[in-house]
Amino acid sequence: MDKLNVVTCTAPVNIAVIKYWGKRHEELILPINSSLSVTLHQDQLKTTTTVATSRSFLEDRIWLNGKEEDISHPRLQSCLREIRRLARKRRNDGDRSLDSTSLSHKVHICSVNNFPTAAGLASSAAGFACLVYTLARVFDVEGELSGIARQGSGSACRSLYGGFVQWIMGQQEDGRDSLAQQVEQETHWPDLRILVLVASADKKTVGSTSGMQTSVKTSCLLKHRAESVVPERMVEMTEAIRRKDFAAFAELTMKDSNQFHATCLDTYPPIFYLNSVSQKVISLVHQYNRHYGETRVCYTFDAGPNAVIFTLQQHVPEFVQVVQNFFPPETNGGQFVKGLPVDHVALSEELKKAIGLEPTPKGISYIISTKAGPGPQVVENAAQHLLGSDGLPKKSA
Ligand code: DP6
Repeated sequence: MDKLNVVTCTAPVNIAVIKYWGKRHEELILPINSSLSVTLHQDQLKTTTTVATSRSFLEDRIWLNGKEEDISHPRLQSCLREIRRLARKRRNDGDRSLDSTSLSHKVHICSVNNFPTAAGLASSAAGFACLVYTLARVFDVEGELSGIARQGSGSACRSLYGGFVQWIMGQQEDGRDSLAQQVEQETHWPDLRILVLVASADKKTVGSTSGMQTSVKTSCLLKHRAESVVPERMVEMTEAIRRKDFAAFAELTMKDSNQFHATCLDTYPPIFYLNSVSQKVISLVHQYNRHYGETRVCYTFDAGPNAVIFTLQQHVPEFVQVVQNFFPPETNGGQFVKGLPVDHVALSEELKKAIGLEPTPKGISYIISTKAGPGPQVVENAAQHLLGSDGLPKKSA
């Protein structure tokens, strides 16, 4: 066995507050509108990827969450090809510090999530961001990587940065200007909190890729949204974040989520991602805000029924208690709240009455409490590599 060149990195999940839905180019993954997201903290949600190269490897191979997968998947191939192309370009441009042999070496890739796939979170974003970031380290490629991650999964380009991130749709046909860009750092809005309400363990019915294809073909609402609604919202959202104006941020976030799901319903045949629990969460949030006469919490939903809630730190304990009250968990079950600790508070009868919903036992399995976080990181500790010295997944990976 020849010597291995091994690198391990982690990358975050991101949640869009202005949604990406629809492509103008399928292979290059070019969107019909710009989008904007918040990067979640990796202490709660992350992908870890190890990439190894060696002269001894006979072929490129990949293991995802403990299972070997087919590396010939076109999107994986795009990412590998683009990283190798950049590496070759750097070497041809005369950077002699690069080891000229390693470019022809095959790679072994091993990737795991620290959150259950059953949580139904956009794991492809963290996964492709992590893959591209780690490959870039292995092949000593520097600079703009979001255009490569984008070709793995559109939303993945936004996971290459921390904090608040926009994906600018771009104009060029080859996609060279369709890139992600940080809007504000993760430290910008310290009291912003995020609660992921895991509603169901069901796998999503229609995947994003095929769902958005049908929407582009059939929904005139989506066309209107992309051309006339999103451009203004991008400006308003960036401003709301810059000013840390929670009410403005929250209202835009809810309206954009609702419009995305409206375009799904306007798709023919229609696509339903929200279920009865999602609808109840929506009512609960609006009733809660109405009771206080101000927007204290907001929701957003991707291609699945799980709500992602944004609020400010001071409202977290009460809102979590409200969720627990209207979606009573199994009494013998594990922890209801995971992640950042949440204090217990008592709810007033007045608040419960104001919300006035029938409780739905076990409607929500658990909550992940988190905040905005940084972009991808290199893991320096070799003990945390997912591939062993034989280039195969360690037992724990
Ligand atoms: C609803 O990035 O998963 O989460 O580009 O086809 O891989 P592909 O789609 P993907 O779509 C994400 C859609 C969304 C909204 C968003 O994250 O902006």
